[in-house]
Amino acid sequence: MPATVGGKALIDLRNISKHYGEGQTRVDALADVTASIYPGEVVGLLGPSGSGKTTLLNVIGCVIEPSGGWMMLDGEIVYDARWLRADLRRLRLEKIGCFRRPISSPSSTARRTSRR
Ligand SMILES: Nc1ncnc2c1ncn2[C@@H]1O[C@H](COP(=O)(O)OP(=O)(O)O)[C@@H](O)[C@H]1O
Ligand SMILES: [Mg+2]
Repeated sequence: MPATVGGKALIDLRNISKHYGEGQTRVDALADVTASIYPGEVVGLLGPSGSGKTTLLNVIGCVIEPSGGWMMLDGEIVYDARWLRADLRRLRLEKIGCFRRPISSPSSTARRTSRR
């Protein structure tokens, strides 16, 4: 564990599952994913196509709703068998933010930022 890593988990997942569809067309994309990611940690997600990487990132990003489990982001339980926040856009703004923020600056134009 790197020296910068420590303290409370920034992302805490317990038994997160996600299936798409029902019945014969049901796909279990995530089954019982339990993981903790700490501040300062750099994590790679490896797996073959279709193994659930995008689904997991979308769940962590509060973009898609899990089918079950528990998730804490930055000290707040945001999902416990259901979303615990009504306003998911605000939740994303507060907990996930904008990936571009570190590379944009007040002097950047939208065109310049989108080229990066
Ligand atoms: N919107 C969707 N509807 C139905 N099945 C989906 C959907 N998105 C992904 N899947 C299925 O869920 C599984 C995991 O997909 P995905 O998370 O995209 O994996 P990866 O990013 O690792 O390639 C795959 O079997 C995929 O076909
Ligand atoms: Mg993918």
